[in-house]
Amino acid sequence: MKGLPFLPREARHEAQLIFAANPALFSLLAVSRVAGPVRKVPRLGWVITDPVIARRLLMDAEHTSLLGEGGVGHLWAQLLGDWVNQSFDGPGHDALRHQARDLFTDVSAKRHVVRVFAEPAAQLAEALRRNETVDIAQTARAWVGRMVADLLGLPMASDADDAAFRAIFAHGERLAALARKTLGSTVIPPDALAEAREILEQLTARVPEAYATADTNALLGRCREAGIPLREARGLASLLLVAGTETAASAMTRGVALLHDTGQQHDLRAEPDLLRGAVWEILRVTTPAPLIGRHITADVEASGKTLRRGERALFLTYTANNAVGRFDIHRAPEPKLRQLWFGAGAHLCLGAPLARAEITFLLQTLLAQERPWRVVRRRAARNVIIPTYAQLVITCAPEESRL
Ligand code: HEM
Repeated sequence: MKGLPFLPREARHEAQLIFAANPALFSLLAVSRVAGPVRKVPRLGWVITDPVIARRLLMDAEHTSLLGEGGVGHLWAQLLGDWVNQSFDGPGHDALRHQARDLFTDVSAKRHVVRVFAEPAAQLAEALRRNETVDIAQTARAWVGRMVADLLGLPMASDADDAAFRAIFAHGERLAALARKTLGSTVIPPDALAEAREILEQLTARVPEAYATADTNALLGRCREAGIPLREARGLASLLLVAGTETAASAMTRGVALLHDTGQQHDLRAEPDLLRGAVWEILRVTTPAPLIGRHITADVEASGKTLRRGERALFLTYTANNAVGRFDIHRAPEPKLRQLWFGAGAHLCLGAPLARAEITFLLQTLLAQERPWRVVRRRAARNVIIPTYAQLVITCAPEESRL
């Protein structure tokens, strides 16, 4: 990690998070900045950093698929079974997404976030008002755990506390950590597969009960009414419990750090209308899912190169998004990126409106405090698939008060 001092403070912290998460990813992202738009890398396959080419290929269902070596669907098929090959891509996937569409609009996401976050946000605000310190990394973990439990309709005890929701997050994190080793190949070794299946069992232990009892405002109730068998509903719950937790918590926590480290929380406090742009900028700079993998299903040209059937492609969205420049909440949206941090095409993140609403709500809670926040302690998360802080302790206490 030597050689980072020349970076601005916020970029140095971000680089440290990526290195702590996965040194191999750190090296890949560093090299990719100068590797050109499309480059073949031994043992990895095609590495693509150009946002326009990435979007074109992600939208190209004729030549790319997330099933097969290189795509995340390949991992899920090994974990959940062959039915994934019918439901995670192609017409089966379109039909499945259609079932849940109305639960993931901007309007429903905002309503949902207010309902689920209002109570923990009041507690957070009260702790900050009392000049206490708060760990935003742990707060975000508990909040996103709450959110997916509610979304799915999982029965949680009425007095379930943050620890219960963080447990959901921890299972998802353990499972995703196993995928950390799949940068070079998405074939899961037998011992990791057995461990992953055991984690999934624990993660989805309450799904059968929710499937039987949840109403149709919850995803599992909707699966039951739509005739989706329990086994598949359990698989979809696993997908949401993993896809919807680490990514969102990472953006929430790193966003709080970025706004502090750049001093731009002061601009936001002075001009609250900047919040929407700030959330986009947080997502661009953090790009919590730093790469997206695909299997090449038929020969296709990109930037004068031929990507052959059977090869794999890695879209380094982190590199593409960050090439635009430093974190700046005043930045106008970059048309060639659109929202590449959420992917593109048929698999564009289903939870994008929810993720934006979650980050917005957390920031609104912090910005409503009388004084700005200060980071008093931080620690990067090690050996995780989504770079983030294990600890980000903040306070709104005046500088001179003892912590
Ligand atoms: C900042 C937060 C998030 C980021 C950066 C993010 C990023 C992504 C990306 C890049 C993909 C595409 C993967 C691919 O094409 O292989 C994706 C897919 C997905 N995400 Fe998110 N995600 C976030 C939050 C969420 C949340 C909160 C949920 C739900 C609770 C969610 C649910 C999903 C689902 C279900 C898919 C699969 C969609 C499909 O295959 O049709 N995500 N996400």
